[in-house]
Amino acid sequence: MPTMGALHEGHLSLVRAARAACDVVAASIFVNPTQFGPNEDLGKYPRSFERDREWLEREGVELLFAPSVEEMYPGEKNPHFSQHRREMGHPDKGVGTPQATTWVVVEEMSGRLDGKSRPGHFRGVTTVVAKLFHIFEPDAAFFGQKDAAQVAIIRRMVRDLNVPVEIVVCPIVRELDGLAMSSRNAYLNPQERKQALVLHRSLARVKELAAAGERKAAQLVSAGREEFAAEPSVRLDYFEIVDAESLDPVEDVSRGALVAVAAYVGATRLIDNEIL
Ligand code: PAJ
Repeated sequence: MPTMGALHEGHLSLVRAARAACDVVAASIFVNPTQFGPNEDLGKYPRSFERDREWLEREGVELLFAPSVEEMYPGEKNPHFSQHRREMGHPDKGVGTPQATTWVVVEEMSGRLDGKSRPGHFRGVTTVVAKLFHIFEPDAAFFGQKDAAQVAIIRRMVRDLNVPVEIVVCPIVRELDGLAMSSRNAYLNPQERKQALVLHRSLARVKELAAAGERKAAQLVSAGREEFAAEPSVRLDYFEIVDAESLDPVEDVSRGALVAVAAYVGATRLIDNEIL
């Protein structure tokens, strides 16, 4: 079970699913620099290693892998280092940022949804997850539906590269009022915490309309967006209805679809989704 730490009940639900299904459970905690853009929250991403370690131990995780950046991306002097930094738009200071000379990229899909507003993000995710698969050689790997695009892209990578691992996807764990649990919720002040509910509210509205028979994605999307129009303090990044497997846009939801949303609540970017 790969994580970036700052664990919450969402992560623990994955541990428990793994615990129930597997003889041995291994987890990783690694805030992966290659999946963060230059103006993102890599530097301030919440870290609570001692607490996380205790929680994982209490849940019966046998093995915890918490590598340093140098361990995961060795060779700081590598010339490709600065190329990566330039590609990601980092100021070329030349120190402290990891490099990779070999990338695992799922073309097309990596530019969809979060990949559109976070260029390079999914390249960093697939590369680090591929590395973790090679390091652990797990029979099964556990991911959360919370990151729906990540799940689709990792499934695709595993299929395309014949990686001998079963991908298990666990449902989104939410707070009592519906907010999807996220390590980034810790950034929200009390006012933003209330405003953040618009993500779940917009998805609930779409689900309700779909259940009442609306099939046109365009209609459903505009209903979802309306909820954001009523909450102007929150800046919508995307609200899309796509095929859950390919992430291609769909016009009609009769055969099921993924409703995915991302929005900035203050400076905090949150995501959520619902499967129809
Ligand atoms: P992170 O955000 O720490 O999430 C680790 C895993 O927990 C992911 O599979 C994510 O989908 C799942 N998760 C997070 N919040 C959840 C929730 N509310 N309900 C259910 N599952 C939830 O996702 C990453 O880290 C990274 O991209 C990673 C895969 C570790 C690669 O660096």
